[in-house]
Amino acid sequence: MSTIESVLVENRVFVPSEAMVRNARISGMDAYHALCAEAEKDYEAFWARLARENLVWTKPFGRILDESNAPFYRWFDDGELNASANCLDKHMGTPVEHKTAVVFEADDGTVTKTSYRELLSRVGQFANALKAQGICKGDRVLIYMPMTLEGVIAMQACARIGATHSVVFGGFSAKALQERIIDAGAVAVITANYQMRGGKELPLKAIVDEGLAMGGCDSVRAVFVYQRTQSACNMVSGRDRTFSEALAGQSVECAPVAVGAEHPLFILYTSGSTGKPKGVQHSTAGYLLWAKLTMDWTFDLKPEDIFWCTADIGWITGHSYVAYGPLAAGATQIMFEGVPTFPNAGRFWQMIERHQCTIFYTAPTAIRSLIKAAEGDAKVHPDRYNLKSLRILGSVGEPINPEAWMWYYRNVGGERCPIVDTFWQTETGGHMMTPLPGATPLVPGSCTLPLPGIMAGVVDEAGHDLANGVGGILVIKRPWPSMIRTIWNDPQRFKQSYFPPEMGGKLYLAGDGAVRSADRGYFRITGRIDDVLNVSGHRLGTMEIESALVSHTKLVAEAAVVGRPDELTGEAVCAFVVLKGARPEGDAARAMAKELRDWVAKEIGPIAKPKDIRFAENLPKTRSGKIMRRLLRSIAKGEAVTQDTSTLENPAILEQLGQAY
Ligand code: WTA
Repeated sequence: MSTIESVLVENRVFVPSEAMVRNARISGMDAYHALCAEAEKDYEAFWARLARENLVWTKPFGRILDESNAPFYRWFDDGELNASANCLDKHMGTPVEHKTAVVFEADDGTVTKTSYRELLSRVGQFANALKAQGICKGDRVLIYMPMTLEGVIAMQACARIGATHSVVFGGFSAKALQERIIDAGAVAVITANYQMRGGKELPLKAIVDEGLAMGGCDSVRAVFVYQRTQSACNMVSGRDRTFSEALAGQSVECAPVAVGAEHPLFILYTSGSTGKPKGVQHSTAGYLLWAKLTMDWTFDLKPEDIFWCTADIGWITGHSYVAYGPLAAGATQIMFEGVPTFPNAGRFWQMIERHQCTIFYTAPTAIRSLIKAAEGDAKVHPDRYNLKSLRILGSVGEPINPEAWMWYYRNVGGERCPIVDTFWQTETGGHMMTPLPGATPLVPGSCTLPLPGIMAGVVDEAGHDLANGVGGILVIKRPWPSMIRTIWNDPQRFKQSYFPPEMGGKLYLAGDGAVRSADRGYFRITGRIDDVLNVSGHRLGTMEIESALVSHTKLVAEAAVVGRPDELTGEAVCAFVVLKGARPEGDAARAMAKELRDWVAKEIGPIAKPKDIRFAENLPKTRSGKIMRRLLRSIAKGEAVTQDTSTLENPAILEQLGQAY
């Protein structure tokens, strides 16, 4: 890819069609600016209006924003509501009641449609099953489920009774699961015997058993097991029950429990730059408001749309744009259990055609891998499928390179569909910056402008605003309703990580760098400014992987982990390892690299496996003993080393560090 071409592509602007503008909910840039002006003029009144119009309250709120204990902001906090009632009950007696809520396509292609009315019954019945085990408001429930409707039902059922869920992605290990169960103090685990992915049956319950057996999980009283496949799994009597056992005899009617607006709807663990993953705590009202409203604004949702977000419910995107947003907005959505490459890499295109999908939302990594597949095999090229139903495309999770953007725009969107490149984070609850399909002129690779009410800026290290064209730190200047409330069990870390006192303590620090374009003021995300990696849109902490490596105390003396650019996955994990024994070479090094990769998979999960492992006799350090990470990054990239290496004890290690296994 030549740089000159990238620059040319980036400078092009794609203006929304007249028809798109005319019919849009936010129609044209004037409408966008009018909403921004409303927020500027009276910030609290703006959010109060939206919260009244978009949520159903069992007790209306009087207070809007409480900043008395900043940065622990509270929104609408004397109001009461239930999240599940806002996703399901509110549609009863409206045309949405008998509309399809979820079109579920299983790994093997089997399709099941569930209406809003049926979904409400299934959620109510499962909520009663939870209650029968004594689970109630304020309890934490860990969910470790496949990407099936039952996962959404489990989340909604927790919300219905006021239990706080914590979903753990099915690719995390037993150890990761155990750590999250302990940190959250979960009283129950909801899981499945197996999950189906790409034609393979993979265990889930066995991993739960292993995690619970690691100790410290005495808080867990009950385990619910969805039988996804016919295969048997171990069941512990008294503790474990299948879904059918749990649901037997339970009524489908379950009154939703009203909770305060600030009641924690969920905790979702994500990686930070230091220490263990942090439990990002979200509220009920503020979170749900934004999940619903961004469905309307960013995706310009219409009653007849067929929405498809490909994210797993184990990630924030699957929370906001599968489990909550589409239901709160009354949409019909597609939910897919499998992987984009099974039975072949045309699966996404085939499903768009089959289900007449109109809004398609996926990650750049998926797009890049499908480009590669389509270039190698014409049969899986999107032009072999009828994708005319599409009207809006979306991208999420990592920067989309202009080349991938153009391919997506041309080959999937037929040059007709705007691409909403949505920048946001686990901590922000919903979209922060994104184009609006019926308003914003698009620039490939740019997430363009903040949504109305989101006060984004680019500042220097002291928190001062920077001019357009100058790269700096991305911040949000005012609290917004769907923001993270705290880190579960660690309010001090919340303050330190997101509202650093060095920057005045009032700016929300996203952890990303950004630059605004000189002409339009459009934001472009330049990547993380901390030690967080983004591999295939999955967030990983370098420290987390380092700790996993050095916890192999028999073998590993020291380890350093950095990211390097990767064409397919965006970034790749590169580990530099000093072993306790002699530095291995050749086959011995390859065998050792495999052992360490498997170790990391066991400690964290397969998604964290280092792509490169390099062995050295020692690591490059400064005189004060700090690992020279910048130098390691250059080496990982295969760049010429320009840093000063005169402090290295043994210059020969530079050559050792260059050898990847
Ligand atoms: C990155 C995923 C560029 C960013 C929703 C952020 C993006 C991190 C974009 C959050 C985008 C997400 N353009 N970068 N459109 N979207 N990111 O918490 O570095 O899994 O901080 O949330 O992904 O990842 P998380």
